[in-house]
Amino acid sequence: MAALRIDGIRACVFDAYGTLFDVGSVARGAQDTLGERWQALSDLWRAKQLQYTWLRGLGGRHADFWQVTGDALDYAMASLGIADNALRDRLLNLYLSISAYPEVPAMLAELRSRGIKRAILSNGTPGMLAAAAMNSGIGEYFDAVLSVEDVGVFKPHPRVYALAPERLGIAAENILFLSSNGWDAFSAKAFGLKVLWCNRSAQAPERIPATPDGEIRDLSQLPAMLVA
Ligand code: LAC
Repeated sequence: MAALRIDGIRACVFDAYGTLFDVGSVARGAQDTLGERWQALSDLWRAKQLQYTWLRGLGGRHADFWQVTGDALDYAMASLGIADNALRDRLLNLYLSISAYPEVPAMLAELRSRGIKRAILSNGTPGMLAAAAMNSGIGEYFDAVLSVEDVGVFKPHPRVYALAPERLGIAAENILFLSSNGWDAFSAKAFGLKVLWCNRSAQAPERIPATPDGEIRDLSQLPAMLVA
């Protein structure tokens, strides 16, 4: 995979949670209260958060990602027998100051210096994404922050991926989408974007339509793959 080169890319569009931002950093930030339970809470919270996006999409009952994130946290806390409203508030607030992965700022700076546009395309609400980008210190690098709230349905609805070419004014074949969430990477490819799967945790390939153009382990590998 390392030898893969992708040409004709004018914009890189990034998934937010799990790709630019380390979802695990949220519950880890309350480790002083959660102790060893932080990891179980983190994993269950994230799994439920994603399930609720899919369930709401299929059921035609959209609610924004802030609501879904709070609902998923309530489920995860109840499952682990944790009843603590102050902790709930703290964890949700920590979501707004989620950490970026360490390689992200230098990677974005490199793309910017090469004249490649940079955008976020995420389930997150505009408010959540603005807070996360600002608090993690990477807000200055983006030309556009695109939220599913503009179409009122979550990923992987094709209308979400269509936001990238529409809003950037760049053809899908000239846009490279990057996600660490396998289902998101495969679905973006099925829509017609170029896609690199940033497979941080060495997960098995999904068995859903389309296959990403390539795979990387973290985003530091991205700039070298783009042919000028
Ligand atoms: C997002 C979810 C998929 O940021 O992590 O869209």
